[in-house]
Amino acid sequence: MLLRHVYTTRSIPALSLPSSYTSRRALNPSVPLSSHSIRNLVRSPSTAPHRTATPRSTARQASTMAPIPKNMSGILIEENGGVDVLKWKTDLPVPQPQDGEILVRNEFVGVNYIDTYFRTGLYKAPLPLVTGKEAAGVVVASSSPAFKEGDRVGYVADHAYAELTAVPATKAIKLPDGISTETAASALLQGLTALTFVREAAGIKQALGVSEGPWTLVHAAAGGTGSLLVQILSVFGAKVIGTAGSPEKCEIARKNGAQWTIDNRKEDVAARVKEITSGHGVDVIFDGVGKATFDLDLEIIARKGTLIVFGNASGPAGPVDLFQLAAKNIKLMRPVVFNYTVTPEEWEGFSNELFDLIKTGKLKLGIHNTYALKDVAQAHSDLEGRKSTGKLLLKV
Ligand SMILES: NC(=O)c1ccc[n+]([C@@H]2O[C@H](COP(=O)([O-])OP(=O)(O)OC[C@H]3O[C@@H](n4cnc5c(N)ncnc54)[C@H](OP(=O)(O)O)[C@@H]3O)[C@@H](O)[C@H]2O)c1
Repeated sequence: MLLRHVYTTRSIPALSLPSSYTSRRALNPSVPLSSHSIRNLVRSPSTAPHRTATPRSTARQASTMAPIPKNMSGILIEENGGVDVLKWKTDLPVPQPQDGEILVRNEFVGVNYIDTYFRTGLYKAPLPLVTGKEAAGVVVASSSPAFKEGDRVGYVADHAYAELTAVPATKAIKLPDGISTETAASALLQGLTALTFVREAAGIKQALGVSEGPWTLVHAAAGGTGSLLVQILSVFGAKVIGTAGSPEKCEIARKNGAQWTIDNRKEDVAARVKEITSGHGVDVIFDGVGKATFDLDLEIIARKGTLIVFGNASGPAGPVDLFQLAAKNIKLMRPVVFNYTVTPEEWEGFSNELFDLIKTGKLKLGIHNTYALKDVAQAHSDLEGRKSTGKLLLKV
C-alpha cells in the first residue's frame, strides 16, 4: 500500500488558505485550482517529510504510559467517491510528531460536513488520505513545551480519523475541568464556526436585547452547526428564524431558541419570512446549504443585509453576478472558521469562550449518534441523507 501522502494535508484544510482560492472556488466551483493553490493546500510531495519513515527523537513520552505502537487502526481514503471509499485499516503507520507537534491518542472524533467534501473530492487533497478535522483525547508524546503527556486536549486539525494523530500544538487546547473529551469533540469545530461567524462575520455583539436585535435566519437550523448558531444568536439577543427539513427538526430548532421556524420541505420559505418580518426581510442569513438556497437568500434578505454563505451541503452556490447584490446593497461573505482562529489569541480566546458557554449551560450539545470509528461510512450516509440532527461522533 502506498502511504506517501497519508499525512500530507496541511493542518489547516483546503478552504483556510489562500483567501483567493476560498472566494473564487466558493463563488464559482468551476474555477480550476491553480498550481499555486495546490501548493498551498498540501505539502508538496517532493518536500513533504514522509513522517513515518524518519522518526525523530524530540518527542517526549512519559515512561509510565503504554509504549507508542508502530501501527494503528484508522480510516483511509485511497480514491475519491461515495461512502464505500472510507476503508477501515489496522496497519496504518503511527505518525511521528514533528517539532511543535503533539501526538494525541484520540478518544472521540467529530464528524463534519467538510469530511464528506474531502471524501468526494469536492475539496482536493493528495491520496491516500486519513481525513477528519477534529477530535479530543490524551497527549501521549509531545514536541511542544505547551503540552505534556497525559494532558487532555481537543483539537481542530487534519487526520483525525485514526487512533493516533500528530497535531500542531497551535491547533490544540487543554480541556478545562468540566469539559470531557466527548464534549470537546462534539463542540469544537462547529462551535467555533458558530461563535466566530456570529461575532466576526455578522458583527453581532452580546446583550443587544431581543427587541433590538437584528432579524437573523439560519438554514439547517437543527443540524450540527445550525443548532449552535441558533443558540448563540438567541443568547446574543437576535431575532432568530430557523429553517429545517421536517416538523421534528423544526421542534429542535425552537427548543434551541429559534422564535420562528419554517419547514423547508413543506412551506413557502419566502412567503413565511415576509409574513414573520412584516415585509422587512432578514438582516443576516447563515447559509451552510449553498446551491439550493442561494437564490432564496437573495429574495428574503433585507436591504443592507449580510448574506453569510459558509457551506455546500447541497452543492456550492454560485457563480454570482455581482449586480445581484446591488438591488439591496447586500454584503456577501464566504467565511471559513479556520481563518478566524489563526492567532493564539483567537484560537484560545474563542475556544475558551465556547467552553464557558457550555459549562454555564448557555450552549447545549445535541448528539445525534455515536458510531464506532470503523462505522464512519454510516455516519457520512446519515449526514448526507439529511437524517441527522446535532452532532455525529465517532468513538475510537
Ligand atoms: N465555512 C466553515 O468554516 C464551515 C464550518 C463548519 C461547517 N460548515 C458548513 O456548514 C454546513 C453544515 O455542516 P454540518 O456539519 O453542521 O452539517 P449539518 O447541518 O448537521 O447537516 C447538513 C444539513 O443540511 C441540510 N440540507 C439541506 N439540503 C441538503 C442537501 N441537499 N444535502 C444534504 N443536506 C442538506 C439538512 O438539514 P435540513 O434537512 O434540516 O434542511 C442537513 O441535515 C456544511 O455546508 C458545512 O460545510 C462550514
